[in-house]
Amino acid sequence: MKHQDMVLVTGGAGFIGSHLVDALINKGFRVRVLDNLSRPTHDGKIPDWLNNTAEFIRGDVRIKKDWIKALSGVGVVFHLASYMDYHPDFSRYFDTNVKSTALLYEIVVGKKLPVKKIIVASSQSVYGEGKYTCPGHGVFYARMRSETQLKKHEWEVCCPKDGKAAEILPEFETDELSPQSPYAVSKLASEKLCQILGQTYRIPSIALRYSIVLGERQSFRHFYSGALRDFCVRAMAGLEILTHEDAMQIRDFVNIHDVTQAHLLVLESKKADYQVLNVGSGRTSRIIDLANTVCNAAKIIHKPLATGKFRINSPRNSVMSIGKLKKLGYKPKYDLKDSVFEYLHWIQGYPEAISYLKKTYAKMHKEGILKP
Ligand SMILES: NC(=O)c1ccc[n+]([C@@H]2O[C@H](COP(=O)([O-])OP(=O)(O)OC[C@H]3O[C@@H](n4cnc5c(N)ncnc54)[C@H](O)[C@@H]3O)[C@@H](O)[C@H]2O)c1
Repeated sequence: MKHQDMVLVTGGAGFIGSHLVDALINKGFRVRVLDNLSRPTHDGKIPDWLNNTAEFIRGDVRIKKDWIKALSGVGVVFHLASYMDYHPDFSRYFDTNVKSTALLYEIVVGKKLPVKKIIVASSQSVYGEGKYTCPGHGVFYARMRSETQLKKHEWEVCCPKDGKAAEILPEFETDELSPQSPYAVSKLASEKLCQILGQTYRIPSIALRYSIVLGERQSFRHFYSGALRDFCVRAMAGLEILTHEDAMQIRDFVNIHDVTQAHLLVLESKKADYQVLNVGSGRTSRIIDLANTVCNAAKIIHKPLATGKFRINSPRNSVMSIGKLKKLGYKPKYDLKDSVFEYLHWIQGYPEAISYLKKTYAKMHKEGILKP
């Protein structure tokens, strides 16, 4: 990719986008950001971490004229702007995440714009509960655990044939997909559009399925998801660290700087074109490991408390294979401790996060997102 190319980053004022903007500018690219600074991530103002070398367009990816303006003179698009988490306004996921991707290709194709590459942000959530193995019955794709099961505090995913606890396997890009929330369905639709329209119109396109990304600038204004921000803000407030279920859920936590490395890699690699790629750390941790790491870093002596509360359609475990991305040269460098220290240090600068934590929990209980 030529460095005189203008790179458009939608959602560039957000967590992942703003780090990408910094990295692109450091590499010598000209960067434009299209972002509407929407809630719950922002409070309507440009965040202090947005690189002021980037050109900023305040606009909405649901609006065609905003895309047309933002795409002028652009060589590469990273489409990261998205509506996320578990909110009850289901249609907004499709309006924001799917319509926007369709609009992007509609304009590039319709106006024959010289866009050389499009990279779309997808998510590990497209796998749903994922793939498991049972010693007696082999590999199976799991269904989401039922509310009845969760109410009994039976947390593990069990083999449908013998009812015994099964073991999670890593998710590969070619695995069966089973998104279980409006957000996850919208991410799958967006990445499918990226693949189909990219292939049809020969626009090199890549969909990146991130696992759970950790690092500074992850919005402190809502707590619908993101165990790290939740634990760190609790630590900052002197509150007990509370986890969902029994804290033994398995996750793949990847550091933001590794994710940024993945973006730069696929930008420069022709081999990445037309592919869907998992972006993770290649390691697994349990939620309790994250909670303990926060306690150690924040010097909290109380042990984290597993509350037994749960969210419907939240997978028990999520593990990704990153072999495909590694073949392109990806080498994740950061571990969980790095991410925790980084976020904990950063969040101290935003004590107002504590009031957002309290407000979000009250809202989640009211909306029935967190049970019981
Ligand atoms: N953070 C993670 O762990 C994670 C995991 C998997 C996938 N992702 C994906 O990565 C991408 C970036 O996520 P993030 O964590 O940086 O989120 P974020 O909320 O920090 O950033 C998203 C940005 O998009 C902007 N935005 C939202 N709706 C918009 C609209 N209609 N028009 C213009 N801008 C809009 C927001 O203002 C925000 O700046 C998203 O597509 C998300 O689905 C993130």
